[in-house]
Formats: sequence, C-alpha cells, structure tokens
Amino acid sequence: MSDRSTPGSFYTRWAGVYDRIASDAPGVVRMRSTFLDLLSPSRGDVVVEMGCGTGANFPWLRDRVGREGTVVGVDLSEGVLERAHDRIRRHGWENVHVVRGDATRPPFVGESTAVPSESLGLGVGEVDVVLATFVVGMLPDPGGAVEAWAKLAGEGGRLGLCNLARSTTPLGRLGNPAFAALVRASSPPGGQGRTRCAAQLLDERVLAGHRTLHERCEGVVSRRAFGGFVRMSAGTIESDV
Ligand SMILES: C[S@@+](CC[C@H](N)C(=O)[O-])C[C@H]1O[C@@H](n2cnc3c(N)ncnc32)[C@H](O)[C@@H]1O
Repeated sequence: MSDRSTPGSFYTRWAGVYDRIASDAPGVVRMRSTFLDLLSPSRGDVVVEMGCGTGANFPWLRDRVGREGTVVGVDLSEGVLERAHDRIRRHGWENVHVVRGDATRPPFVGESTAVPSESLGLGVGEVDVVLATFVVGMLPDPGGAVEAWAKLAGEGGRLGLCNLARSTTPLGRLGNPAFAALVRASSPPGGQGRTRCAAQLLDERVLAGHRTLHERCEGVVSRRAFGGFVRMSAGTIESDV
C-alpha cells in the first residue's frame, strides 16, 4: 500500500489531522453520540466497525458494550490503524481490537480480499452490530458492501450508517456549493471522488448504501442533522441474505 494515490495512503498521510477533527470537533462529537443512540448497541454485544479510521467511535462503542462486549475496527489504511492502536493502548481497553482489511469483503465472509487481511476470528452469527461512519460514500459498490455487512450480523443483528451528503433542505441547499468544493478537495487523489461531480458521486453512493440498509432492515430509524448534510440510519436486520 505504498502507492501515494490509493485511498489507504491518503488517509495514512492525513491521519493526524483527520484524527483531531474526527475525535474532538464539538459538532462531530455530538453527531457521533446521536448516531450511537440510534444504533443502540447493548452491554455484552460484539460490534464490528467498518472503516473505523483512527477509532473516533471507540469510546462510545466501548462505553455501550462494557467490559463484557467486544469492539473490532476494520480499516485498510495502516496510518489510521496505528492511531487506533494508540487510542486502545492509552485507554487500556482489552476488548477493543483493530484489523487491517478490506471492509467491502469482510475477511470472515469473503474468500479473498484486495489487501492482505488479518482474520477477525469472528464468523457469521457471532456479530451483533455492524456500523460504518463516513465510509459508504467512498465505496464503488456501497449496496454490495452493506449486503455483506447485513450477512455478517445476520437476522436480528443491528446495522447502522452515518454519512455526509449534499443537503436537500431549503436552507441547507444554500451551503451545497461550498460542501461540494470541500468534498472535491478532501477526496483521495486518483479516486473517482476527484472528478468534477464528486459531490454527486458521494450522494449516489450514500443513497445506495442507506437504501440497502432500508431494504435489509426493519424498524429503521433515520435522522438528518447539520442542516441536512448528515444522514444517519439504523435498523434491525430482517432475515439472512
Ligand atoms: C472518512 S474516514 C472515516 C473514519 C471513521 N469511520 C470515522 O468516523 O472517523 C474513511 C475511512 O474508511 C477507510 N476505508 C475506505 N475504504 C475502505 C475499505 N474498502 N475497507 C476498509 N476501510 C476503508 C479509510 O481508510 C478511512 O480510514
């Protein structure tokens, strides 16, 4: 993964800056807390976070599952995983782990992965909750990824997505051009996100991911926040894929 143009190397390079914004910016902190309220993991749950980045969600997840639960973060970028490791060490969490792998082909359900994956040691039916925050907008096939995550958690499991996309509220629409410029500037080089229509691509992927969640889950609760720029959905998986 030394190629400077891959999303993995992009996030590795910006891991420090990203971590400060993702973990400490007041609005982002409130948003994570609201999303975790929707998802509502329980004490003792086994939670897998896809594209966990630097582990900004870990404090909330660890708090919800307690000592008796397990949190596993999956990401393909070495740099962000190092920071996630540091966070785990600093807090002394013994039941929070990170694994390097391709979230679109979970090592526990797929045979091969795009990058060398470590094994999670978790199989279908052993995972209670799967979540991804700010990830499906980066994936070429978000619907396929969400299907794979639903399969991993299985019937009765919880699935949650939280994403940024252009706003559809009257007031939020005024901010869409600035948002689109930000999306373009912050997209990994070499990826489709650097195209002229980066925000449109993001919208389509986010929509596809959330649509699949709605199709696969019952009791879905959805929220819009930050003038409609943040979309959150969480539900209970209806039946095995
Ligand atoms: C915008 S960051 C979000 C990080 C974290 N979820 C958060 O809320 O702060 C997107 C993360 O997804 C990871 N990512 C992108 N595509 C991935 C894939 N196919 N498999 C695993 N991780 C992926 C990137 O390495 C990056 O760390």
